[in-house]
Amino acid sequence: MTRPALPQNIGEYAEKFTTEESPLLAALDRETHIKTARGVMLSGHMQGTFLKLFCAALQPLRILEVGTFTGYSALCMAQGLREGGMLHTIDIDEELHDIAAKYWAQAGVSDKIVQHTGDAGDVLPSLNETFDLVFIDADKVSYGRYYDQVFDKVRPGGFIFADNVLYDGEVVLPAELQSKNAKAMHEFNEKIQADTRVEHFLMGLRDGIMMIRKK
Ligand SMILES: C[S@@+](CC[C@H](N)C(=O)[O-])C[C@H]1O[C@@H](n2cnc3c(N)ncnc32)[C@H](O)[C@@H]1O
Repeated sequence: MTRPALPQNIGEYAEKFTTEESPLLAALDRETHIKTARGVMLSGHMQGTFLKLFCAALQPLRILEVGTFTGYSALCMAQGLREGGMLHTIDIDEELHDIAAKYWAQAGVSDKIVQHTGDAGDVLPSLNETFDLVFIDADKVSYGRYYDQVFDKVRPGGFIFADNVLYDGEVVLPAELQSKNAKAMHEFNEKIQADTRVEHFLMGLRDGIMMIRKK
């Protein structure tokens, strides 16, 4: 989940010519790598900047995130919410919540974020909101199920983004060489390709984001 879609030197060039990461986000990134063994899961500077700019353009009132981790992507997206907007985010692991909450407070977005703790498959049916944007970034084998669970909660013209759809480039390997997660990502990509209710763009940023727009 770490191999960038771009060659390393091109990726570094792109990062150099992207707005610098804020000191707060850089500190969150650092603390995540120090305090968790899974720092690679964090969206990071490039993807975070993309999410922030996309939200600034979309001006969403309701965002849903599946997979909070230490709150990096939630913070980036919350900064683009419209006045009065709210971001709901779900994670099964409540141990990480303190880190996320600390940085959300420092950024002044705590009152715009609702943290749900539990298995996303159980939490999603309880959310009675209409979302402008859903960001799916949790356990890969469940993406297809999460997509089905959120679809009717997304407004027409709204977006569903799914992270890691290139799965470290493994999705192009022969099936017998793919890991369980890469197979799940490939099946998810096929599912979206066959869904005539949406238009979609597989963006080769970082580990691949499937951008899906509900018609
Ligand atoms: C890739 S990380 C999320 C990264 C975060 N969106 C970011 O960009 O900083 C995936 C998260 O999904 C959570 N997760 C895994 N399985 C889950 C499930 N069944 N329900 C809810 N969250 C789950 C993990 O605990 C982990 O924190």
